[in-house]
Amino acid sequence: MTRYGFIGTGSMGSMLIKQFIKTGKIVPAEITASSKSGISARSLAGKTGISAVSDNRTLAKIADVLFICVKPLEVRGVLKEIRGELKPGTLLVSIAACVSLANLGEWAGDTVRCVRLIPSLTAEQHAGISLVVWGRGVRPEDKSLVLNLLHTIGTTVETDEDSLEVCTNLTSCGPALIAAMMKEFAKGSVRTGTIPSELAEYLVRETMAGTAGLLTGGEMTFDGVVKRVATEGGSTEEGVKVLQARLPAVMDDVHGALFAKRRLVEKRVEDEK
Ligand SMILES: NC(=O)c1ccc[n+]([C@@H]2O[C@H](COP(=O)([O-])OP(=O)(O)OC[C@H]3O[C@@H](n4cnc5c(N)ncnc54)[C@H](OP(=O)(O)O)[C@@H]3O)[C@@H](O)[C@H]2O)c1
Repeated sequence: MTRYGFIGTGSMGSMLIKQFIKTGKIVPAEITASSKSGISARSLAGKTGISAVSDNRTLAKIADVLFICVKPLEVRGVLKEIRGELKPGTLLVSIAACVSLANLGEWAGDTVRCVRLIPSLTAEQHAGISLVVWGRGVRPEDKSLVLNLLHTIGTTVETDEDSLEVCTNLTSCGPALIAAMMKEFAKGSVRTGTIPSELAEYLVRETMAGTAGLLTGGEMTFDGVVKRVATEGGSTEEGVKVLQARLPAVMDDVHGALFAKRRLVEKRVEDEK
């Protein structure tokens, strides 16, 4: 039996555990989790039937596959704590942004095989993209195991660390960025003074869900949807022209802001002792 460990049972750790159980990929008896206070891990254990342990070292001793689901600034401390306890042959899967494979190798030890996984909240809907980057020494059977787990919670895209950051902007930050953009779209209609915000948000949400349906599976492209709706000479075409004129600069700023923040976090990750 493969034993799965999860250090960190916050938003993402608990989401992954619940989804892997829900899709039948892992049975609760195979999962042990820990958290900083122990409260979230115990609470999740009560709800799902997994085991919770009160310290990370105990977990490291038993896990064959160990998910690190703590904030970037906590990763070094956690790995330092468990380094001497890791089972020989452990596969380490870190979901932390801003913590490189080089960092993981340095802090966990060269013998540990490391994978970076960037999940997305969309996995709660069994949709969207999980990004993976394989570290040195990761074996074909490790890849099969990870890909087999992930394929029930959306689509997995294998990438490299150079592309990971910009892909992360689209897939992992994406749900928040898309929701924020759609909120502004709705607010624009409320400013006309003719409809309340609840109605505007409802209309946008439903339209967004329908548009996602049109785009799913690549049946229609973005351009295809625009062409079908924004017919030549119509009013939608005028709205699209405004977006095309103004949004490139906004989008450059959005990506730029994400990159800048990550440089700051990476520096703190490096400086953290
Ligand atoms: N949020 C996203 O959409 C998203 C997407 C992709 C990747 N990520 C990455 O996922 C990671 C976790 O993010 P999150 O949003 O799930 O954070 P979160 O909700 O704050 O959860 C962090 C978890 O880490 C635990 N923790 C902190 N220090 C610990 C320690 N020393 N030992 C054991 N457990 C410890 C916390 O314990 P307590 O419960 O006791 O506080 C908590 O359960 C981050 O590195 C982030 O970069 C997030």
